[in-house]
Amino acid sequence: MGLNDFDTVALDEERNALAIIDQTKLPGELEMLYLTTQKEIWNAIYLLQVRGAPAIGVAAGIGIYLAAREIQTDDYDEFLKEFRKAKDYLDSARPTAVNLSWALNRQEQVVLNHKGCSVPEIVEALHQEAIKIRDEDVAVCKAIGEFGLTLVKPGDGLLTHCNAGRLCAVKYGTATAPMYLGHERGYNFKVFSDETRPLLQGARLTSFELKEAGIDVTVICDNMSATVMRNGWVQAVFVGCDRVAANGDTANKIGTSMVAMAAKRYGVPFYICAPTATIDMKTRTGADIKIEERKPEEVTEMWYAKRMAPEGVKVFNPAFDVTDNDLITGIITEYGIARAPYKEAFEEIFRKKAENPIL
Ligand code: MRU
Repeated sequence: MGLNDFDTVALDEERNALAIIDQTKLPGELEMLYLTTQKEIWNAIYLLQVRGAPAIGVAAGIGIYLAAREIQTDDYDEFLKEFRKAKDYLDSARPTAVNLSWALNRQEQVVLNHKGCSVPEIVEALHQEAIKIRDEDVAVCKAIGEFGLTLVKPGDGLLTHCNAGRLCAVKYGTATAPMYLGHERGYNFKVFSDETRPLLQGARLTSFELKEAGIDVTVICDNMSATVMRNGWVQAVFVGCDRVAANGDTANKIGTSMVAMAAKRYGVPFYICAPTATIDMKTRTGADIKIEERKPEEVTEMWYAKRMAPEGVKVFNPAFDVTDNDLITGIITEYGIARAPYKEAFEEIFRKKAENPIL
C-alpha cells in the first residue's frame, strides 16, 4: 500500500471519525489515525499529525461536524452555545493558517442558516457541508495546478519550500499541483525541495510524495536555495501559504521570505499558490498576521540523536514568516492569477468566485 491508496484527510463514515495520515510518522511509516473526540482532533492539528492550511481546514470542517453529533439537546439555542464552544476550542489549535477559522466559520453559518430546523437536520447539514469542503479542496487544487502550469514549460527546474503538496490537502496539493499535472503530461520537471528546518516538511513529506509519484526531486538544505538559483537550475518557485493579507503580503512556512529574496536577486519568478479560502481580506497587511511560535525543542533536539544546542540556550522558533508583496510575482488562485496591486486583483477574483463558484 502506498500514499496514493489513502486520502490525507477524510471523513470515515463507518467509524464516524476523522481519518488522517499521521504525518509525524512519514516517511518511515504510513499510518492512519481515526479521531473521534474534540481533544484528539485538536491534538492532531497542534502536533502536526495533520498539517498544511487546506488540510487543516478540511479537518476542522469534519471535526466540528463530529463534535456537533455529540451535542445532547433538542433546543436550538443550547445547541448553538455548545457548537460555539467546540468551534472556539478547535480554532485555538493553531493561529496562522486562516483555513482553520474559515472552515469553522463556514460551518457556523450552516447552523445559523438552519435556525428553525430540528437538531438532527442541522447535524445532517453540517455533515453535507463537511463533505463539500473536502470535495471543493480537490477541485480548487486542480484549478490552481492548471493556472500554474501556464507559467512554466517542459524541462523547467522548480523549487518549493515546506510541503504544499498532496499531504497538505486532499489531493494534488497547491504548490505541487502544477508539478503533478505537468508530470501527467510529460513535462519532466526537475524539482528542488527545501528541507525546511526545523520540522523538515520538505525533506520528510514533499520529497517523499513527489518521489512516490515518479517526479524528479532533489532535497536541498534551506541554505542552498540561493546556490541552485544562481546556478540557473530554477525557472520558477511555487510555494503555498497559510494566510494572504488583503495587500498580498503572505504568511507561509518560516524561510519562505528568504527564498523570495533570493528569487528576486536571481530573476526567478516567485509564485504563491493560494486557494481563495486562504486569502483573508479582513487582514490588511502582513504585519497583522499572528505568527505561531513553537517550542524550542523542535530546534535544539527533535531530529537529532542527541541534543545539538547547549542546555538552556535561548531559542526563537517562529513557524511562519511573511513575504512582502513586492517579492511576489503572482498569486495563483483557483479563479486565476492575481498580480499587483493585489487588493484590486483579489476583489476581481472574489467577483469571479461569486459569479461562478467552482462547485
Ligand atoms: O506548519 P505546517 O507544516 O502546517 O506549515 C505548512 C505550510 O507552511 C504550508 O506551506 C502551507 O500551509 C500551505 S499548504 C498548501
